[in-house]
Amino acid sequence: MFADSYTGRRIFITGHTGFKGSWLSAWLVRLGAVVRGYSDAVPTSPSHFAATNLADHIDDTRGDVRDRNGLTRAVQQFKPDIVFHLAAQALVRKSYDAPAETFETNMLGTLNALEAARRCDSVRALVVITSDKCYRNDEWVWGYRETDHLGGDDPYSASKGCAEIIAHSYIKSFFKDGPACATTRAGNVIGGGDWATDRIVPDCARAWAANTPVSVRSPWATRPWQYVLEPLSGYLHLGTRLLNGEKTAFSPHGQAYNFGPAADVNNTVAEITDALARHWPGFTAHTNADAHNGGKECTLLKLCCDKALAHLQWKATLDFEETLRYTAEWYRCFYKGEGGKTPRDMLDFTLGQIAAYCTAAELREQSWTRR
Ligand SMILES: NC(=O)c1ccc[n+]([C@@H]2O[C@H](COP(=O)([O-])OP(=O)(O)OC[C@H]3O[C@@H](n4cnc5c(N)ncnc54)[C@H](O)[C@@H]3O)[C@@H](O)[C@H]2O)c1
Repeated sequence: MFADSYTGRRIFITGHTGFKGSWLSAWLVRLGAVVRGYSDAVPTSPSHFAATNLADHIDDTRGDVRDRNGLTRAVQQFKPDIVFHLAAQALVRKSYDAPAETFETNMLGTLNALEAARRCDSVRALVVITSDKCYRNDEWVWGYRETDHLGGDDPYSASKGCAEIIAHSYIKSFFKDGPACATTRAGNVIGGGDWATDRIVPDCARAWAANTPVSVRSPWATRPWQYVLEPLSGYLHLGTRLLNGEKTAFSPHGQAYNFGPAADVNNTVAEITDALARHWPGFTAHTNADAHNGGKECTLLKLCCDKALAHLQWKATLDFEETLRYTAEWYRCFYKGEGGKTPRDMLDFTLGQIAAYCTAAELREQSWTRR
């Protein structure tokens, strides 16, 4: 996948120590790219970033995306071809406890990433990662389209809607002849190596590794769950097209894209815990369902991904069971390791999953071509 698009390319990733940023960095290392990461800290312990020893394989730097000059300097020194902006305060519940920090990180951070890209001549492309939560949630059964209203009641969702508006203002105002830029709105991402608080899969992994029950909020809530490699493959497809600088009718410059699972994959939280337990022999999904989420999170959320298919030929590869199997296998390997020991380095396992995913995606593409 991606042929030689990223071989030898210089890639700047904000949020590289986080769950998705770390997987993206690992994938780009596999593709032969030269990666610099820029993050304020490693957000959890354990973390995918530490478990894969990624700091040994990329240029791992610390900095705050709210520091415009610091971020701009880091970009200018590195001279990247492309920037992936992922750094964010990424948790809905935390956004209620720390609304100002959430808005500052997600809005100002995005503004500063755009500004840094604008002030660095080497940057030819910029991919801004926002969220499916950038849409005003109407609790309806249809998938949100890229043209639907932005909004969001909680501070996290609102901050991501704002990030979208800021990015599109920069695209219209400054990037006509500047870097090609697009925004992305992925659904709920799961996968090995996420240890964030208040997310269902990390909650299960932590609880079941300690053989204790897990508390489940809103077990009936549905989300567009997808394996971490699905949206990342979307970002990489998009990055390739932006780097090509094409000016066709389907040029992704200035566009927003949803990346989510197939329309019929919209499972509840309870179905996630049951499926995870199926792929985690020896553990049972003994859950304490907590029916009260205090109205803090929406219950119905779905994405329409037709535009990513039409413009980028991107479509999710894994079905629901495979998504949960990949997830459980990564955690089981981390917690048990071979011979009952935690392996020192999860990079090989991570790269193995990326290779398996690429094979599955290529087979799926070939079956389309034959049709
Ligand atoms: N995980 C999901 O389900 C999901 C779904 C949709 C969108 N997203 C978006 O994808 C991106 C990555 O999400 P994630 O799950 O990997 O999050 P994460 O919390 O695991 O990682 C966040 C990253 O941002 C960095 N960061 C936070 N504040 C910073 C600051 N002020 N300065 C510099 N770096 C800072 C952290 O150090 C970390 O590297 C975020 O933009 C998030 O909003 C995530």
